[in-house]
Amino acid sequence: MGDEARVFRAPKGTNEILPPRSWRWVELTRLALDTFSRAGYAPIETPIFEHTEVFARGVGEASEVVTKQMYTFADKGGRSLTLRPEGTAPTIRAILEHGLHRGALPIKLSYAGPFFRQERPQKGRFRQFFQVGIEAVGSDSALVDAEVIEVGSRFLEAAGARSRLLLNSIGHPDLNCRDGYIVTLREYLTARRDALAEEDRDRVDGNPLRTFDSKEEKTIGVMRDAPVITEHLCDACRKHFDDVQALLRELGIEFTLEPRLVRGLDYYTRTAFEYIAEGLGAQNAVGGGGRYDGLSEALGGPPLPAIGFALGLDRIALASGNADEAAPLDCYVVAMGERAATEALRLTTELRRAGLGADLDLVQRSLKGQMKDAARSGARWAVILGDQEIERGEATLKQLHSGEQESVALADVLERVRQ
Ligand code: HAM
Repeated sequence: MGDEARVFRAPKGTNEILPPRSWRWVELTRLALDTFSRAGYAPIETPIFEHTEVFARGVGEASEVVTKQMYTFADKGGRSLTLRPEGTAPTIRAILEHGLHRGALPIKLSYAGPFFRQERPQKGRFRQFFQVGIEAVGSDSALVDAEVIEVGSRFLEAAGARSRLLLNSIGHPDLNCRDGYIVTLREYLTARRDALAEEDRDRVDGNPLRTFDSKEEKTIGVMRDAPVITEHLCDACRKHFDDVQALLRELGIEFTLEPRLVRGLDYYTRTAFEYIAEGLGAQNAVGGGGRYDGLSEALGGPPLPAIGFALGLDRIALASGNADEAAPLDCYVVAMGERAATEALRLTTELRRAGLGADLDLVQRSLKGQMKDAARSGARWAVILGDQEIERGEATLKQLHSGEQESVALADVLERVRQ
């Protein structure tokens, strides 16, 4: 194959959303933003790229996302920029930059868009992926934890992605629980360093919490009997965690306590949670989140306790099947003859202006071809126009699922379809 003949391919690990799958995709995005706005979360759009510092300081210099997965580049002015690997640090950066925290608290924001991490691609794991998420910033009340978790659960249910909720508290580094626990965990791991998988041994001195995330059999074996953070929570973190659980029970939200749940980003404090779906293989987390009470200060702002989540739309689409993959059409207009073609365009436009979904044949196919197209289109009705019928001011209206047909006055088509 010569160079000119080569067809370009999208970069490795990208997930292109083509029709008919894309119909479901926009529907899921709309459903998410709608669910979030009905709970009072206002949309925010932050840039796709940020100063690298935002993530280095926000997500954590030692986190895998920052050390291994970021798309970082120098622009022509020599500034170090990074394609956003996640949305929480940029949201806090925007709040601080624009002083949103000087208004009423908590600030409740929602977002939907592409994110970038240079991970090894596999089923459900992409280098460009799409998240929808919310952040509630400026309150440390357990009420907010419960609200946020409920909104995520409700969206996933509405999206048809059956999932389980895993819940944990990872304490707080500034209160007397996380640091004490890390010492205990490090002692446990140091005594068993040789039993850990080789690639996990460095974590013992660095961030020993990360060893809970290991996919290595040897490490998983060691972690089974490791001390867990929930047995080391200070009184304040314990109370917060108990309150969150009581509120979730009050709302009828089922959850499983998972004391080994640690999250991949370093800003988390206290509540941590993940939504796990069936049938997705290794990449089965359709979403995750938690409190990040110290992130604002890490970015140079005042204390602003906060909590949020992000859900991976690529995975949700995989987990929620192929329902409703068609254009939202009420009507497909079929035309036989020259005059009818013009009338079809006029009628389709009239239907669209009235807010209905309508489409038509644009290449003057045979009647059979157009009827096939009408059936494929997913429309409920076909309106059939012939030159002679138009003379009489009439059209044939066919209900596509039943095959029932009736003759109606052209002027009444809109009203009849709307019914
Ligand atoms: P995260 O757990 O890194 O959290 O990502 C959230 C979700 O995004 C994951 O559960 C997964 O569904 C999806 N996701 C992440 N990476 C990929 C990938 N490479 N391919 C496909 N899907 C992916 C965060 O990003 C936090 N900012 C969430 C948060 C908001 N915490 C507090 N507020």
